[in-house]
Amino acid sequence: MFFKKKTVQTPVTDERLNSVAIIMDGNGRWAKRRALTRSAGHVAGAANIKNVLRLARDFDIHYLTLYAFSTENWKRPKEEVDGIMKLAVQYLDSAIDEMKKNDQICFRFVGDTSVLSDEIQERIALVRSMDHGQPFVCNVALNYGGRDEILHAANEAVKDGITHITAQDIDERLYTAGTPHPDLLIRTGGEMRVSNFLLWQIAYTELYVTKTLWPDFGRKEFLGAIDAFYGRDRRFGGL
Ligand code: IPE
Ligand code: IPE
Ligand code: MG
Repeated sequence: MFFKKKTVQTPVTDERLNSVAIIMDGNGRWAKRRALTRSAGHVAGAANIKNVLRLARDFDIHYLTLYAFSTENWKRPKEEVDGIMKLAVQYLDSAIDEMKKNDQICFRFVGDTSVLSDEIQERIALVRSMDHGQPFVCNVALNYGGRDEILHAANEAVKDGITHITAQDIDERLYTAGTPHPDLLIRTGGEMRVSNFLLWQIAYTELYVTKTLWPDFGRKEFLGAIDAFYGRDRRFGGL
């Protein structure tokens, strides 16, 4: 495998890195350092998603799950939230174009999207209709909260008449159903917390935090995270 050979001499883990989640944090600080508005930071952050997606494909990572907007991010000033939602519309349009051109990739928008604007929901419905088992999956978490997702899954199970809920019942009803639980969770921007991301899915995920701010996260940083992953001894509670 390309990155195993090139980046790590003696990989500790036998697990292939297949599912990666990223908390794309630090857009605001990136902008502040350049005396730009926070919204300009989000524009730079959104532009970086394309690069990182390309890198994930180069590294043969089939599932990428990106935290774009949390259920708590509504607390921010309206102007900033409006700017992010405008970027979401643009991003959806480019995702639709990409899926038309490239039958290898599928975008999925995960989270409680039912409260988002009509223009976002219409585009999400179109993206959903184009989902047909493409080998590369990019989940974009929009109005996503890990607690909200677990509650939603449990309530769906109840609606389905299940009285004793199993882990599989939850798994099948997560917004991210169909994506393997992440092998690796990367957080940019240096904060040592998960901020309500993928709470159910990260039970045994390897965590990697870098101080690099999201708009600056590129090939070198991604390889650094992959290197760290292959250096981990994943025991899953065993010996
Ligand atoms: C992450 O960047 C993007 C979103 C949360 C929408 P931030 O906007 O949180 O950037 P910092 O953490 O303030 O630098
Ligand atoms: C997490 O970043 C959410 C996203 C990256 C979308 P935040 O900036 O919202 O997280 P906190 O507030 O530092 O925990
Ligand atoms: Mg932040």
